Amino acid sequence: MSRIPFEQLPADVRRAISDKTGVVHRALTAEGGMNSGIACVLETNSGRVFVKGIPTDHPQVAAQRREAAVAPHLPASCPRLYWHLESGRWSLLGWEVIDGRHADYRPDSPDLPLVEAALVELQDVTAPGGIGIKDAVDRWADYAPPGTLHYFEGNTLLHTDFAPDNVLIAGDRARLIDWAWPTRGAAWIDPGSLALQLMEAGHAVEEALAFASRFLSWRNAKAEALAAFSSATAVLWREIAEVDPTPWKLGMAERAAALAHILNGNP
Ligand SMILES: Nc1ncnc2c1ncn2[C@@H]1O[C@H](COP(=O)(O)OP(=O)(O)O)[C@@H](O)[C@H]1O
Ligand SMILES: [Mg+2]
Repeated sequence: MSRIPFEQLPADVRRAISDKTGVVHRALTAEGGMNSGIACVLETNSGRVFVKGIPTDHPQVAAQRREAAVAPHLPASCPRLYWHLESGRWSLLGWEVIDGRHADYRPDSPDLPLVEAALVELQDVTAPGGIGIKDAVDRWADYAPPGTLHYFEGNTLLHTDFAPDNVLIAGDRARLIDWAWPTRGAAWIDPGSLALQLMEAGHAVEEALAFASRFLSWRNAKAEALAAFSSATAVLWREIAEVDPTPWKLGMAERAAALAHILNGNP
């Protein structure tokens, strides 16, 4: 959806925010991402806060509520959630501000070891129960080859959306943001999702797979599981690109197909 500046939020919604933060002195709209109708850093009487929000009648509001629910369970690489409010037809989250920039995934980028460290930390987190996060088996059910869905089962908390604008580099750390798709599943799924994004940033498929192999979960995964995941991802991106053949979606579909080709045993 298109992103509006803070000032264009209805007055009662802005008031609900300043009830949380104190007087708002300045608002700076964030770059990157495309789902949030509002995404900005506010300077307020109580300090700075990153506010993202979406109208409560928007189909993606469920994702925003999942993000609020998972927030207390996130590891240290993720920002802290200060508040969640729903007011005047807007759902809003107030997060700790990360003073960073979007990750650079290109080959030889010095950000890559930082991204690796953040994901290594996340790989040890068990998905919290009772908060209605997604299940990998359900998410890939329509795409996985017949008889392979059990490979996606697991108890790890997965991020699943490693687009570079969902990873902020701040100092010597990578911080994982945008938890719209928290998922319970097999731990190797996240290194696999990241590998596809690395290809999008210019890694050859072998380099992307070498990066995925830095993660224990990927090294220990059955070849059949990785083949199933890559096939499912290729089908998913092909579908996305068919519905909306914009260049980046066509590019993702092409890379997902290349990954599936190799992981299904083709040279
Ligand atoms: N905690 C934060 N501190 C500073 N900037 C942030 C923070 N979280 C997100 N951003 C910025 O806002 C953008 C959009 O936020 P994100 O959570 O990715 O929402 P979406 O992609 O759903 O619109 C990010 O790409 C990033 O540039
Ligand atoms: Mg985002």
